[in-house]
Amino acid sequence: MKYSLFVFFLLLAAATSDLDSDRRALLLLRSGVRGRPLLWDTSASSPCTWHGVHCDSGRVTALRLPGAGLFGSLPVGGIGNLTELQTLSLRFNSLSGPIPPDFSNLLRLRYLYLQGNAFSGEIPPFLFALPGIIRINLGENGFSGRIPGDVNNATRLVTLYLERNQLTGPIPEITITLQQFNVSSNRLNGSVPDSLSGFPITAFVGNDLCGKPLNPCQGDAGSPVSPPPVSPSSSGKKDSDKLSAGAIAGIVIGCVAGLLLLLLLLFCLCKRKKKEENGPSRNVEAPVSAAAAAATTSAVPKESTARNVPPAESGAVSKDLTFFVKSFGEFDLDGLLKASAEVLGKGTVGSSYKASFEHGLVVAVKRLRDVVVPEKDFRERLQSLGSMSHPNLVTLIAYYFSRDEKLLVSEYMSRGSLSALLHGNKGNGRTPLNWETRAGIALGAARAISYLHSRDSTTSHGNIKSSNILLSNSYEAKVSDYGLAPIISSTSAPNRIDGYRAPEVTDARKISQKADVYSFGVLILELLTGKSPTHQQLNEEGVDLPRWVQSITDQQSPTDVFDPELTRYQTEGNENIIRLLKIGMSCTAQYPDSRPTMADVTRLIEEVSHSSSGSPNPVSD
Ligand SMILES: *[C@@H]1O[C@H](CO)[C@@H](O)[C@H](O)[C@H]1NC(C)=O
Ligand SMILES: *[C@@H]1O[C@H](CO)[C@@H](O)[C@H](O)[C@H]1NC(C)=O
Ligand SMILES: *[C@@H]1O[C@H](CO)[C@@H](O)[C@H](O)[C@H]1NC(C)=O
Ligand SMILES: *[C@@H]1O[C@H](CO)[C@@H](O)[C@H](O)[C@H]1NC(C)=O
Repeated sequence: MKYSLFVFFLLLAAATSDLDSDRRALLLLRSGVRGRPLLWDTSASSPCTWHGVHCDSGRVTALRLPGAGLFGSLPVGGIGNLTELQTLSLRFNSLSGPIPPDFSNLLRLRYLYLQGNAFSGEIPPFLFALPGIIRINLGENGFSGRIPGDVNNATRLVTLYLERNQLTGPIPEITITLQQFNVSSNRLNGSVPDSLSGFPITAFVGNDLCGKPLNPCQGDAGSPVSPPPVSPSSSGKKDSDKLSAGAIAGIVIGCVAGLLLLLLLLFCLCKRKKKEENGPSRNVEAPVSAAAAAATTSAVPKESTARNVPPAESGAVSKDLTFFVKSFGEFDLDGLLKASAEVLGKGTVGSSYKASFEHGLVVAVKRLRDVVVPEKDFRERLQSLGSMSHPNLVTLIAYYFSRDEKLLVSEYMSRGSLSALLHGNKGNGRTPLNWETRAGIALGAARAISYLHSRDSTTSHGNIKSSNILLSNSYEAKVSDYGLAPIISSTSAPNRIDGYRAPEVTDARKISQKADVYSFGVLILELLTGKSPTHQQLNEEGVDLPRWVQSITDQQSPTDVFDPELTRYQTEGNENIIRLLKIGMSCTAQYPDSRPTMADVTRLIEEVSHSSSGSPNPVSD
């Protein structure tokens, strides 16, 4: 079950030893599957902030890793040990092998989405013995064998999608009331049970099935709308579902009758299509919203309802949220708080959440903490930030201000941050970040910051670091958290040892453009060395990243500082990498006046990246 943002804001999950067990199970899963890395910060003791992991009351209740490039088979003792799991989504990966037998322990499981993988073996009957199971989607896999008759044990099941597998045998008699059903493109044979005859033809096509809504059984294919079995012809069914000789004969003989039948058939199809459009799709929505409503009402303590949500003023739909982007104005604060949410992370300006609406829209919500300016200044600041627009800036959608709560809604970036990409999963299955990708990220970020600086001479980003560089699907940089530093208390603003701060900065709320350039320089060095500026080792030695790079390049070859992952697959020379390193080093000059402007930096990076022969990015899919 998903929980709403509202619930998140109210509940503090208590860590328990069960959570440790969940953590171990997730780590086992991570080591068991290969493919694109699961960028989990394993130094964190709680798995609840890991990408795709959602907790409630101190246990993992949802694991969602759709399209995460995972392959290999699921290990026993992994997901099967997440005994409080309610939602599992691994759709559109390349996972293979059977569904592990210990999935039978997932007694709380309600939603199982495994479609679009290469799972094989039989559909385990125990899935239908899970008491809470509501939706099962195993479509587009390699499951074989029969559809177990145990389906009927799953009394709460409303969705069963099994299309595009290798299933054989008949469809069992179904006594439960399914609202969504699809077995198309398998190798099933026999007749469609009466209880399923109301589903559209497309739910059954691509099998050797007969009976309503398909052609009647017994009758041969040549007389599809013939009433009760009349035609006595062939008893032996052929493997192929092409037109049989009998059918062709039928068409040739009954030319006029055939035409009439054709018209009848067309008429029926039209009617059916209409029914498809109106009927089942409406049913489909009902259980979801009902469940969501139930979850919010039951899980939210009553007394807190009034705290975050100001009394609604009549008629004003989005008065509470102030929108920057008109086209996103399809939700209001209430809707936002009810959207299902997961924690994305805790940053210097506050925690971030991913909020998913039922109609499919996904946004990021930042809960700003320690806002120190009055409402008027806050609104002015936000309006000014909201008016900025650049392809490499994260788009702000809306904000909310009340005495207790300040929210900033922006577009959601599914690839996460550069920090996670660089320093996350270093183990097996990590996809190397190549030069083209890194140079592209550096250039995108430079352009965005340059744009900010061009607005007026006092506008700066104020908090440049790799966790604020988010990535689009095609690994383009999208800079976030810009311009918030002046409205946030300086005690909670970037701490001193974070490694990005220019030496002259004394007040985190007053970051000059030249201080931005310094931070950006550190970011370049991080991108090329693969070392985090907050890296333990660097700190213990008492040197920051710029000085470390300087000391190595003074004595040895500049290539010695490069991230081995960057140079390992490099076929051409390293000149461009060295040029970018020098740009980064010039940005981190001790004295602000010796640093270039962001406009200069952007131009230099453009030259570097244009002179590289841009091979397409192998990381993107
Ligand atoms: C999973 O649970 C089993 C049985 O409780 C336990 O023996 C095993 O160690 C657990 N696996 C992990 C990875 O924690
Ligand atoms: C489903 O229910 C039937 C009848 O109660 C029972 O015999 C069967 O074992 C159940 N299937 C599973 C997988 O529990
Ligand atoms: C379904 O196919 C199997 C194997 O090809 C065959 O044995 C069985 O008789 C078929 N059943 C029907 C109803 O056609
Ligand atoms: C069933 O799945 C197929 C894909 O195999 C799809 O084209 C069809 O629209 C689906 N039908 C229903 C009713 O879900």
